[in-house]
Amino acid sequence: MFEMSHTRDRSAELFEEAQRCFPGGVNSPVRAFGAVGGTPLFMDRGKGPHIWDADGQRYVDFCCSWGPLILGHAHPVVQDRIMKAVQDGTSFGTPTRLENELGRMILDHHPFAERIRFVSSGTEAAMSAIRLARGVTGKNKILKFDGCYHGHVDALLVKAGSGLATLGTSTSAGVPEAYARETLVLPLNDLEALEATMKVHADDLAVVAIEPIPANNGLLIQDASFLQGVRDLCDRYGVLLLFDEVISGFRVAFGGAAEYHGIRPDVMAFGKIIGGGMPVGAYAASADIMEHVAPSGPVYQAGTLSGNPVAMAAGAGQLSVCLKPGFYEDQERRTRRLIDPILDHAEKKGQPLRIFNRGSIFWLAFSDRIHIRRSSEIDPDSMAHFSKLHAALLERGVYLGPSGYEVGFVSAAHSDAVIDEASAAFVDALDVVFD
Ligand SMILES: Cc1ncc(COP(=O)(O)O)c(C=O)c1O
Repeated sequence: MFEMSHTRDRSAELFEEAQRCFPGGVNSPVRAFGAVGGTPLFMDRGKGPHIWDADGQRYVDFCCSWGPLILGHAHPVVQDRIMKAVQDGTSFGTPTRLENELGRMILDHHPFAERIRFVSSGTEAAMSAIRLARGVTGKNKILKFDGCYHGHVDALLVKAGSGLATLGTSTSAGVPEAYARETLVLPLNDLEALEATMKVHADDLAVVAIEPIPANNGLLIQDASFLQGVRDLCDRYGVLLLFDEVISGFRVAFGGAAEYHGIRPDVMAFGKIIGGGMPVGAYAASADIMEHVAPSGPVYQAGTLSGNPVAMAAGAGQLSVCLKPGFYEDQERRTRRLIDPILDHAEKKGQPLRIFNRGSIFWLAFSDRIHIRRSSEIDPDSMAHFSKLHAALLERGVYLGPSGYEVGFVSAAHSDAVIDEASAAFVDALDVVFD
């Protein structure tokens, strides 16, 4: 009933050309469709919940640029702010009032951020937050959790080596082992391992970095007690706690996972939604901690295009809409409206499907597990199901990020009617997967 036949000829031609320009034909690896197979679709335009590919096909978009577009594509408020800012010039390399506007908007409504510094990506935010933590504590090591992603910072492209409480090994060529050795990697949801590690390393451990709602290897929802336990252990052992809220910030609540769980991080990294679809990141902390950043303090960090006026205007436009009463409740309601009929159908048919969600983030796992809290609990073989689902959904006019390890996002532009249409397409596509 949903199937559409359309060509992808134009996308295929563009991809061929792109492969002569960019490594793998893309400017960020997951876009290459490597995980699901086939040729990446080139998008021409987006409006609200929809995107149109180069062959003119329309899709309901649940990738939403990997999270930034919480209002959907080309939202009139954001668009208007961008247009006005552009007319006044795109960059000055001086302070502008737009930085103040976005800065104030965030600090006035975030329960824990007292000072903020704008940068240009989530990676830069995480990198700068780590440098700040090291500068404040005078300590060198950092600790991250297996399954969390914090951008392509050298010291964070690290996975666990063998054994418990292990020193990391790099996941990318080009990262010196000496850097990787400064990073400890532990499994999520294991306070005992964290305490054992703190006991050994606290004297030289600057910061524990975590995605409080880990959303880069599936959606690994952590118990609130684990997050609180991490906070308590950091306090007990004198280690700073960094919440990487690049995905969860302004997504599950205006104040991100910190507000959602009522847990105070020492340092926060932001990205994605904060820039309204333009390249913005930020890190924030208490006034005392942020005083260590140059030019107030000795931790150097700078950026030619940091606080770019067009990007600030886009962010301010988007966040002003997020601040409307009931915004986050409605996001969650429509996300459940998408998910529930799919789950009902899968249950009736005995299909092994779980859909995890937090706010308007959702993730489909082809699994019978009630909880998936660690990346090691994801069955790599289940990804074959995802690839089939992805293809069947494209045929039915629904676009998901091209990897089963990636989460989906619902935007404010996904109306009830669009959600219902997409939900029915999911149900239909699932039957193809399990045919
Ligand atoms: C939690 C988290 N931190 C950091 C980053 C890096 O952000 P960017 O891709 O903007 O550099 C990402 C990107 O997906 C992320 O999900």
